[in-house]
Amino acid sequence: MTQTILHIDASARTENSISRDLSARIVKRFKQADIVHRDLATPLPLITGEWVGANFTPAGDRDAVQRDTLALSDQLVAEIKAADVIVIGTPIYNFAVPAVLKAWIDLIARAGVTFEYTAKPASVSSSPSPQAAPRLVQTSTLPQVTCAT
Ligand SMILES: Cc1cc2nc3c(=O)[nH]c(=O)nc-3n(C[C@H](O)[C@H](O)[C@H](O)COP(=O)(O)O)c2cc1C
Repeated sequence: MTQTILHIDASARTENSISRDLSARIVKRFKQADIVHRDLATPLPLITGEWVGANFTPAGDRDAVQRDTLALSDQLVAEIKAADVIVIGTPIYNFAVPAVLKAWIDLIARAGVTFEYTAKPASVSSSPSPQAAPRLVQTSTLPQVTCAT
C-alpha cells in the first residue's frame, strides 16, 4: 500500500546539513510512498494576536479575515492529517529546536483539531494501534533518534 510521508527539514543549512542527510536517508527507506517535503529553510510566518483570536473563535463563527488568517495553518494541518508517517530532520540550536520548527509547531498545534485538552495524563505508546496515526520519526544530530507513535 502506498504511504504518505510528510518530510520536514529544519536546518538553516541547505548544503552539508547532517540532519537533512539523516532525514533523507530515512525517507528513502519507504519504497512505495508519496512524499510531501516541507523545507523550513523557507521560514513560515509566526503566529500573531490575530491568528490566536481566529483560532480561538469557533470554526463556524469565523469571518472571512479570520479564515484567511488560518489558511496556511489549515494547509499545514491537512498535510499532517494526510500523512501516515512524519519524518522531521532537525538540528539542536541553543538547547532547543530551531525557531523555524517551533513556528511550524505553533501553526499546527490547534486545540480540538490536532490535539485535545484532557484530564488524563499524556502517554506515549511504543505499540502502535491501527487508530494511532501518523507515526512520527524525528532525527537530530545529537546521538539519539526518537521514534514515537
Ligand atoms: C546556531 C547554532 C546553535 C547550536 N546549538 C547547539 C546546541 O545547543 N546543542 C548542540 O548539541 N548542538 C548545537 N549546535 C550544533 C548543531 O546542532 C549541529 O551542528 C548540527 O549538525 C546542525 O545541523 P545541520 O548539520 O543539519 O545543519 C548548534 C549549531 C548552530 C549553528
